[in-house]
Amino acid sequence: MPEQPHGPSQPQPLQDLDEWESFLLDRYPQPDQMSTFRDYGDNVRPGVREFYRLNHTHQSLDFVRAKEREFLGKTREKMGIWEAMEYLNTLVDDSDPDTELTQIEHLLQTAEAIRADGHPRWFILTGLIHDLGKILCLWGEPQWAVVGDTFPVGCRYSDKIVFHEFFRDNPDWNVPEYQTPCGIYEPACGLDTVHMSWGHDEYLYNVVKDHLPEEALAMIRYHSFYPAHREGQYTELMNDRDRYRFEWVRKFNPYDLYSKGHEPPDVAELRPYYEDLIAEYFPAKLAW
Ligand SMILES: [Fe+2]
Repeated sequence: MPEQPHGPSQPQPLQDLDEWESFLLDRYPQPDQMSTFRDYGDNVRPGVREFYRLNHTHQSLDFVRAKEREFLGKTREKMGIWEAMEYLNTLVDDSDPDTELTQIEHLLQTAEAIRADGHPRWFILTGLIHDLGKILCLWGEPQWAVVGDTFPVGCRYSDKIVFHEFFRDNPDWNVPEYQTPCGIYEPACGLDTVHMSWGHDEYLYNVVKDHLPEEALAMIRYHSFYPAHREGQYTELMNDRDRYRFEWVRKFNPYDLYSKGHEPPDVAELRPYYEDLIAEYFPAKLAW
């Protein structure tokens, strides 16, 4: 099949979106499970490798700008938060429905883990909604443009990004202006002015940005920005606000990565609590 970078008909290399997160668990194991660490380069499934190849090949500055134009007008739907959670739950993939938790169950697990640790209400709410941008899949977007570790475009790709070698096939690789440490940006300009690779993080950030505190918005926009929050890269673009916000992004990461157990939460029992929490911050309908 010829490769089609933009259509839903192209191959979907991951068995499901969770397979990317399983890969992250291998790469960033919990501290008490370090003995199980494996070299991702040799043991990674071919589908995961292919997923990163497509991501790194196609996430160019032009691609990101085109997706921003396509989606950030937010003219597709008017939906409330819980409604968007139910919509995301219709995402059907190849995983075994008897063993995998639903998307709503994953979101509730993350939120409940944050709640159990006594964090502020906006933090719990952020856990609940942080992956809602994955509804991009339901609009035909390919996996590599919905999930994956994110990174700035328009400047050099950090060599700490997994499968860095696949960037050689990105059209931006051959644009010298884009391959300096700051690229098209000014040093210390702040990440607000930086184009991030396109995916569920950037999309949801733009949907909810008028309704949550800046710490919550940073958690949403940067939760997959592993090159920064786990590898310490891209400090040359950051300002003082970013350094403050990344303290919170790092607090959020363990809940994103390590909160997903095998026990499904009781959705019906939890729903009233979360409906109240949603209503505290969000209008009944949001533009998507
Ligand atoms: Fe996510």
